[in-house]
Amino acid sequence: MTRILSGIQPTGRFHWGNYFGAIRQYIALQNGHDTAFYFIANLHALTTVTNNDVLRKNVIDAATDLLALGLDPMRATLFVQSDVPEISELCWLLMTVTPMGLLERCHAYKEKKARGLSAHTGLFTYPVLMAADILMYDSDLVPVGEDQIQHIEVCRDLAGTFNHLYGEVFVLPKSYVLDSSAKVPGLDGGKMSKSYGNAVEIFEDLAVQKKKIMGIKTDSRPMEEPKEPETDHLYNLFALFAPTDKANEMADTYKKGGFGYGTVKKELVILAEQYFSKAREKRRELESRPEIVADVLNEGAKRARAKAKEVLKRAQGACGVEWR
Ligand code: ADP
Ligand code: TRP
Repeated sequence: MTRILSGIQPTGRFHWGNYFGAIRQYIALQNGHDTAFYFIANLHALTTVTNNDVLRKNVIDAATDLLALGLDPMRATLFVQSDVPEISELCWLLMTVTPMGLLERCHAYKEKKARGLSAHTGLFTYPVLMAADILMYDSDLVPVGEDQIQHIEVCRDLAGTFNHLYGEVFVLPKSYVLDSSAKVPGLDGGKMSKSYGNAVEIFEDLAVQKKKIMGIKTDSRPMEEPKEPETDHLYNLFALFAPTDKANEMADTYKKGGFGYGTVKKELVILAEQYFSKAREKRRELESRPEIVADVLNEGAKRARAKAKEVLKRAQGACGVEWR
């Protein structure tokens, strides 16, 4: 039995990059594996989101988006990180085996320090909380983007040290690196990210979405000139949404030249709308019945917590804090 687990931070509305780079793959993984746990990492998000109303809203939005996009609560368990308070205790147990140097090398903290900014201990110990998230559910496989591989290594390190000291308590997880060819470009051609202001949200108002797509940055070469589709971010976005034959046809058009970027953009507007039209409909339905989302999260929390209690007890017994 393979246990899959991953977390996603509720730091804003999900965009195309999140979908093609992560969410679509989580949803695919819910089929065919014995258990899949996905959670909304609101404790991690607290290191950046400090408005309580925004954080609460982001959690509901994230859950609603995931369900609308096809996450099936009958196949996968969806829950909110803070609904399993056991996580804080496991995090502490792990901190007692975490060398300072290991965390000092972790990129989020290191980059912040390099920029001369002061970091709080929440950011510094972020990877330990992430290790607790993973070890808490005896996870075997953790689907993540490349930037998170270092954190999985930290997790394996901590689990190994704990096991060495106290016996075989934790399952050592493996990372499952999400398809990096799905690195989605943003409106300006750089990596799509909510921090760069170049993202298209999945469920953005269609008029706003159209305006953004029509504004995608393109070069000023003459229409007749042949162009290379592979290195063109507009083409790359087009290819994410178009069926293969349509994408190949467009690639040929690029190579031949004699087309305008405006035409490609107009087609992309239509393709993107069609691609997510069912999900939009599902989202509207869920929005009108928020109790469905709440039920899914409550049921998910119950399942996750049952497993968490079992694993925490094992860890407490092994290290001796359970003294009776
Ligand atoms: P953002 O950069 O917008 O803050 P996150 O860091 O919260 O996005 O990313 C959440 C997940 O989505 C991660 O697994 C990440 O690898 C994936 N992801 C984000 N942006 C992209 C992108 N442009 N292309 C592919 N995957 C992405
Ligand atoms: N740090 C991850 C990210 O920013 C989110 C996350 C928190 C996570 N805990 C996790 C991912 C446990 C996988 C497993 O993308």
